Amino acid sequence: MVTAGSRAPIGMFDSGLGGLTVARAVIDLLPHEDLVYFGDTARLPYGPRPVEEVKRFALEIMDLLVAAEVKMLVVACNSAASAAYRTAVDRYDIPVISVIEPGIRAAIAATRNRHVGLIGTEATVASHSYRRVLEATRANVTMIEQPCPLFVDFVERGETASDEVVKVAEDYLKPLIEAEVDTVILGCTHYPLLTGVIQLVMGDDVVLISSAEATATEVFARLRSDGLLNDQETPGIHRFIASSGEGTFGELGRRFLGPEFGAVEHHPWS
Ligand code: DGL
Repeated sequence: MVTAGSRAPIGMFDSGLGGLTVARAVIDLLPHEDLVYFGDTARLPYGPRPVEEVKRFALEIMDLLVAAEVKMLVVACNSAASAAYRTAVDRYDIPVISVIEPGIRAAIAATRNRHVGLIGTEATVASHSYRRVLEATRANVTMIEQPCPLFVDFVERGETASDEVVKVAEDYLKPLIEAEVDTVILGCTHYPLLTGVIQLVMGDDVVLISSAEATATEVFARLRSDGLLNDQETPGIHRFIASSGEGTFGELGRRFLGPEFGAVEHHPWS
């Protein structure tokens, strides 16, 4: 049973800024939808944390968004989706969209040689969530998984084109080049900001899959099929909430999202 009406906002969350890449894609596709975005900046990063802890954090935030009467939950964080997506689908009466399934579908459609690479945080790679979703499709595609833990730190610092990040990328991506993958899933919401570096290291022939656009398409399809598209003609209202009152969320938010990024509300955990 869906309790929230079509005029209710979409609820979206990430451990911090990265999910704003998904918010960007959703706003582009659905400019009339209202959106509440929660960045758990006080507890960032999720990537190095145990899966159970990430799951607890994710459910805490989703409970909060559901209490705010959102009509859909978008888990715009690969680590959180890896840890809590299945539980969330059973727990809530509203649709829950994750970044993982859309990314897998886009990769299967893009690969020509059937060798795909997945890069993500330690939590995402350790959970093998992408591998499980890929195997469930029964597509004849092999996947090599590679954690890239330092990438998030670079992006959070706003450092996306330095020699140092290129060097780190060369190390991380070497196994993918050796495995001759022709498609790489950016399995972390921060990585679209490193597209230039990753493409440089992988070469022009390799397709990079950002889950953001694929997820936005899924959000649209699900709202439509559930009769939940907002029919208002005015532009959507976008709220941004962060669990920490300090840090780069306010400063870098505009870079991740663009001009729609506005004032940040503070929701401290007690
Ligand atoms: N948002 C996280 C993800 O997509 C990356 C940042 C973090 O480690 O918290 O996995």
